[in-house]
Formats: sequence, structure tokens, C-alpha cells
Amino acid sequence: MKRSRLRILKIGGSVITDKDENAFEKLRQNALEEVCRAISESWEDLVVVHGAGSFGHPHVKKYGLNPLGASKVHLACLRLSERFCSALSKFGVATLPIHPLNFYTRISGLECDVGYIRRAVDSGFLPVLHGDVIFGRDGIEVLSGDDIVIHLAERLRPSSIGFATDVDGVMVNGKVVEKLSAEDMEKIGDEGGSRVDVTGGMLKKIQKVFRMSYRCEIFVFRGNYNNLKRFLKGEKVGTEVIL
Ligand code: IPE
Repeated sequence: MKRSRLRILKIGGSVITDKDENAFEKLRQNALEEVCRAISESWEDLVVVHGAGSFGHPHVKKYGLNPLGASKVHLACLRLSERFCSALSKFGVATLPIHPLNFYTRISGLECDVGYIRRAVDSGFLPVLHGDVIFGRDGIEVLSGDDIVIHLAERLRPSSIGFATDVDGVMVNGKVVEKLSAEDMEKIGDEGGSRVDVTGGMLKKIQKVFRMSYRCEIFVFRGNYNNLKRFLKGEKVGTEVIL
């Protein structure tokens, strides 16, 4: 299968929301606008996935994942998705919000209608997915945006993947590195995660990336306007993960 011109961009929940310990549904409005402005300047052949930030993690802790809890978690994720997609729309982006609870399941493995996303991109939309709760084999479970990115990358075969985070890149021995390879794994710091995280921080993200069987350019960088512009232009930014 040929490699496409598609890019997949994950916007970490810590970029667009406040993930401090006591934050509950706290949007970082300026950061959100900055992210959406950068995306609006180059959104052809792109799929965006955003994290749940303080619109998801604290809810899982507070309400749990029984049906009522999961429903509350999902509704909060929808609120963030609505804010994100409305901001993009204001900047002229034909955003197509996709909500994983109604789109993904993980019964024997993670599954969704990938053709729908391909069709959306080919029809001139920007699909926007997000971390959410989904039906798993034994009930409701959390699906992180990182898992969505990896799942879609294996199937859509993008030319590049960007992880926009609240740190400058991946830290090895206390310093952000330009390139990261599998040998660096034991030395990775877990900066960029947060104590409220129910899906894991930087280390877990990188472990997932290295388990991916598909190969393409992958960058981890701070999600500000300039870095996002660079990633979307196809330039190197932050830490490049060498698979
Ligand atoms: C988490 O999604 C989803 C829920 C907690 C419901 P992510 O793991 O992608 O969110 P961030 O990027 O860490 O905030």
C-alpha cells in the first residue's frame, strides 16, 4: 500500500486544558486559539486527535466507569470536542467531529470504520477525534488519543505523525533530545505527564510508538503556534522518534 500525504496530529490535553491537580474542565483558551490558528493555515490531508485533559481524567477519577460515570466522562469529552471544533470552525476549517464512544470498540482489538475517516479527508473535511470512553470486552474503558493515533497510523499510513505536548520534546538524562531511538528507552524521563493522568505520560506514549509496526516520521514537540506550523509544513521539530 502506498504512503499517503496524510499527516496525523495529536494535540495533548495538557496543551489546550489546564491539567493541574485541582483543575476540572479548565480550558486554556489562548492556547486553544493558537493551536486552531496554526491548524487552520494548513489542514489539507490531516487528521487531528486531541486529548481529554481536565475534561476527562479528573472525571474518570471522580465518577468511575460504571454507566452513569462513563456517561458523565463522555459528556465532558464532548464539551471539549465542541469547544475545539467550534474554534477551528471560526478559523474557517471544515471540521468533522468524530466521537470514539460511538465510533470505536475494543472487543477483541481496537476497531473502527477507517474508511469513513478516509472519505471525510478526501471530501475536504478535517476529522477531529479525541480521547474518550469506549466499549471494551468487559465493559466501558478509557481510550487515549495516543492509542487512536497509533491505530489510525497503522491503517491510513500517513507521511508523518506529530505529538504536540506541554514539553519541548522527549527528555533523556534530563535533556530534550533531537533524535530518540529504541536504545534510549530506559533513560526517558516521564516529563509531560501529569498526576491526574489516567492514561499515562511521556514514557507510555513513547512505548506505544515503538510498538507500532508502521514506519514514518514522528515528532514530539511543544504545541505552540510556531512548532505546529513547522510540523504542518513538513519541517523537523522537537524530538524526532527514529523507529
Ligand atoms: C484520555 O485521553 C481520555 C479520558 C481520560 C477519558 P488522552 O490520554 O488522549 O488525554 P490527554 O492527552 O492525556 O489529556
